[in-house]
Amino acid sequence: MKQSAYKLVFLLLSLSFAAAAQHPANNYQKLSLDQGWLFHMGDIAFPVIKGHSESYMNAKAGNAPGPAAPGYDDRSWRKVTLPHDWSVETSFDQNENISQGYRMRGMGWYRRYFKLNTDDRGKHLELQFDGVATHCTVWINGTVVHRNWSGYTSFYIDITALAKYGDEINTVAVQVNAVDQEGWWYEGAGIYRHTWLVKHAPAHIITDGVYAHPVKNAQGSWDIPAEITLENSGKLPLTAGIEISVFDQRGQKITSGNTSAMIAPLDRSVANIALQVSHPGLWSPDNPVLYNVVTLVKLDGITTDSLVTSCGFRTLRFTADSGFYLNEKRLKIKGVCNHQDAAGVGVAVPGSIWEFRLRKLKEMGVNAYRCAHNPPSAEFLDACDRLGIMVMDENRNFNSSPEYISQLRWMVRRDRNHPSIILWSVFNEEPMQGTEIGYEMVRRLSAEVKKLDTSRPVTAAMNGGLFAPVNVSQAVDVVGFNYQQGSYDQFHREHPTLSLTSSEDVSGLMQRGVYITDKARHTLDSYDTQAPGWGATHRVSWKAIAERPYLAGCFVWTGFDYRGEPTPYNWPTAGSNFGIMDACGFPKTAFYIHQAQWVNDKPVLHIEPHWNWPAAMIGKPIHVMAESNAETVKLVLNGKVVSEQKVDRYEMNSWEVPYYPGILEAIGSRGGKEVSHFKVETTGEPVSIRLTTDRADIQGDGWDAIPVTVQAIDRSGRPVPTANLPIEFELTGPGDIIGLGNGDPNSHEPDKGSKRSLYNGLAQVILQSRANADRTLVLTASSPGLRPARVTIGVRPKASVAFVSVTQPDMVLDDWRISPVSKTKPDANQQIAANDMNSWAPVKPGQLQTLTDGSFVIYRTTFTPYTEQQEKGCQLVLKKLTGKAEVYLDSKRLFYKNTGAGADITISVPAIKGERTISVLIESEAGERVGLGGVVSVR
Ligand code: GAL
Repeated sequence: MKQSAYKLVFLLLSLSFAAAAQHPANNYQKLSLDQGWLFHMGDIAFPVIKGHSESYMNAKAGNAPGPAAPGYDDRSWRKVTLPHDWSVETSFDQNENISQGYRMRGMGWYRRYFKLNTDDRGKHLELQFDGVATHCTVWINGTVVHRNWSGYTSFYIDITALAKYGDEINTVAVQVNAVDQEGWWYEGAGIYRHTWLVKHAPAHIITDGVYAHPVKNAQGSWDIPAEITLENSGKLPLTAGIEISVFDQRGQKITSGNTSAMIAPLDRSVANIALQVSHPGLWSPDNPVLYNVVTLVKLDGITTDSLVTSCGFRTLRFTADSGFYLNEKRLKIKGVCNHQDAAGVGVAVPGSIWEFRLRKLKEMGVNAYRCAHNPPSAEFLDACDRLGIMVMDENRNFNSSPEYISQLRWMVRRDRNHPSIILWSVFNEEPMQGTEIGYEMVRRLSAEVKKLDTSRPVTAAMNGGLFAPVNVSQAVDVVGFNYQQGSYDQFHREHPTLSLTSSEDVSGLMQRGVYITDKARHTLDSYDTQAPGWGATHRVSWKAIAERPYLAGCFVWTGFDYRGEPTPYNWPTAGSNFGIMDACGFPKTAFYIHQAQWVNDKPVLHIEPHWNWPAAMIGKPIHVMAESNAETVKLVLNGKVVSEQKVDRYEMNSWEVPYYPGILEAIGSRGGKEVSHFKVETTGEPVSIRLTTDRADIQGDGWDAIPVTVQAIDRSGRPVPTANLPIEFELTGPGDIIGLGNGDPNSHEPDKGSKRSLYNGLAQVILQSRANADRTLVLTASSPGLRPARVTIGVRPKASVAFVSVTQPDMVLDDWRISPVSKTKPDANQQIAANDMNSWAPVKPGQLQTLTDGSFVIYRTTFTPYTEQQEKGCQLVLKKLTGKAEVYLDSKRLFYKNTGAGADITISVPAIKGERTISVLIESEAGERVGLGGVVSVR
């Protein structure tokens, strides 16, 4: 579908949906919480708890100590915007783990403050974390609310009961443990995906609560057995009306249905609505037609909650003898495996950079993607739906115990509406794959998947155990082969009824723009000659797969280079060499090999190497390789034909050509007619820089990001492929440089900052707009001795994603104790025995009291001013202090109020170190309501 058609769909849908979303009673709001976090790298020890009252209080809800406490002094912490990966900010260190790219991970803390309106009271409130690497603990307002055990699962925390409204401040504290690892690749560290605050009406659809995935029925038309999970966080039982409608690309409703459901308070109900569709447009990689599903929840006819999901109509089938069928058409899977980091940004990859990477893969002829070895971000899957890339979605942890089953269930529930997903993978290369234990575990994982989705097969990526008497291949729907290409035929012969796919192959090694393998210098040539013992070259591997009709297809390891696994080298090499493209997305030779093999509808022709060799090479043979999908390819050096060869789309075409500077051309022909032309030229010295943006403009929403390609060019404007010059960048306008890269796995230059060298002629700068950007961005690049370059990036105004305002982190004094009521004036500063947790009751400010048995009462709390306040003094602010009152700081009376009416009071506290005690003595007239009527804070 054309881009313009998408826009139309989106517009129409947003209009129809906006009507629902803007209904005054529709309380659904999904607000970004990405801005305004405070970050501390490294762990912070919790205070040692000693003494009875400390121990007693430490065990209570709302009383988390240290950095988890609402009042913790985080004023020196760094401000960060999420997504954030702190590991990519650190420098390379030989003492760190090779598998994690020699980058420090460790521990870290994040805190965020926010307020809720008083009219949010009664709503269902949820905090959502899309992904935190690796393990984490979350506290809200001093109460621990979640412990997360995978860096790849999202988690949703119902904070309704703990939320504070109005002037009161909500505090989120997150301790991130990135000492723990879940992989053998770079995993990043921190809150590296988006965070959200979601507000719903009490009767609402739970997160991931709509399953509406079309399936074709025996009559040839389509059913959507929609399943909607509702929850009622209100106080009364209710009957909700549920309406579900499917809209096509033009915004036309093509089917709808409704039902109603009774939901008890604090309970859930599942509503089922069967929808029928007769002639939908089909989703496929060539034509990824999407439909929108709008689900509304209604109370007394008024919409109170809503959700828009998308779906696609397609069938899929894996067979034992003839591979894979999509929409009943045979389709060889041309897939790549990938991890989730990118140059410059680590694992905090903006959605638009994902889209850029997926577009590059499509350009190469890829139709499938394996998320190795973990579930991806939600926006990644949306992009696959839109662009037409089939996905193998993969579970991270192979474990059938309850915690890990819940991680698997989360993945399937979140992802099962995506038409792009064609396979659920329950593991990658598990040592127990050839044992009864492995088999029993997979049986259980597969059964859990089937409870949630029966429309896609379950696979497991096996690198052994396939011929063991009991093994995992007996418990999956599609057997995944990692490597072991020599066993394809034997396994197929012995198990002719099992469907097979390669789940991983190749692991070929090359570095972009490098043509010599030199172990001493850690280089690898780009002629597709290098592969580790378990793998094969790109050409050998594809031939093995393409020639076997029973195999569904391939998943090449990998589409892009990633950090870690610098096979076959180690320090100082820090990044992988497996990519078809480098870490920036710049093509290596493998890109053109696969393009020549996989693309049929447009001419492909490329030659290697560059033609900039030193004078000493003149007359010496250079190995030249051409990748083409034509019938013949002719090589011409400086106007003289070298020779014409019949194209070999498996092996590609090669020549040994004596080097003479000038122009080396390749001409591809079909039926004797020229269909493609490509040349490499000997360039002059670099004289200036060229900046090329991936798109002409950026959206001014604070999210959109654009990669800019940096090259050095000669006097005639030709890029110099051998330039390795240092470049410095400057950006003006409402945007930021969020990362830099050049694709060199041996480079230790920082990913952050404003400098990066060209690596074999190329570097990349990633720019991101700031929220509400309304002016153009101007990027300039300079290098000593070169003419600088400047590029202007237009900014298309776009409203930012709605976000939660950032609140100043005033210290709020929330935990008080109140004395027994007395008839005579007590000593405001009397001691409370450390073991007496009962005579004085805990109390929160914000509610007035009627003193029935007397007229005097004391409020008491302790606090430690923030470091800066200890040095400079601070102010104690008591809102709505009601009744006659005396306020004491450490037994010294600082304030006296002689009238009963409520008033906002500000008291200066002198500079002084350590913990302070505040006592507030209140006196009331008979029947009068008195006390700490509002928030108490320290400024
Ligand atoms: C596979 C493994 C991948 C990666 C690859 C490197 O065995 O599944 O994660 O390590 O080898 O060749």
